[in-house]
Amino acid sequence: MVALTLREYFKETNDVEMIELRSPDESGNFFVQAARAFKHARARIENTQTDLRNYDVVCFGTPVWAFGPAPAMNTYLDNCEGLQDKSAVLFTTYGSGTGNIRCLNQMQSMLVKKGVVSFKHFSIQQGKVGEKEFIFSLLREKITF
Ligand SMILES: Cc1cc2nc3c(=O)[nH]c(=O)nc-3n(C[C@H](O)[C@H](O)[C@H](O)COP(=O)(O)O)c2cc1C
Repeated sequence: MVALTLREYFKETNDVEMIELRSPDESGNFFVQAARAFKHARARIENTQTDLRNYDVVCFGTPVWAFGPAPAMNTYLDNCEGLQDKSAVLFTTYGSGTGNIRCLNQMQSMLVKKGVVSFKHFSIQQGKVGEKEFIFSLLREKITF
């Protein structure tokens, strides 16, 4: 939902493409999900574009799971390429907020290794993911290029 709002925000001034990660084998059980995320597990993701060289800015969003990214995001961050000297926006949704910064930091360090040189971040509490005006005002404040 936040990704859709971000797309709408960027569409005011840019061409935007969105990739949704699907991990059909990921457990639906909270405890299994949390244990896997805590161990930095990878999930099989359905075929998706990993070559990102044609984009000026790449945005990566995940829910925070056990203080880190969801396994599907770990897999995508392993596999994506073409990011040398690019700018990235990292965003999360979270419940209590515990581990949110750690999650963003983990994503950032994986992307630094891929050559990303500039980062912006924002995070939305799960109760506010549908509040478009709130998210738009946060984006206007934090996500400008
Ligand atoms: C397995 C699991 C682990 C979670 N761990 C955390 C956590 O460590 N910190 C936190 O603030 N929220 C945590 N949450 C809450 C989620 O981040 C929140 O429900 C999610 O961002 C909502 O986005 P979604 O609807 O896209 O899943 C966890 C949720 C799940 C399912």
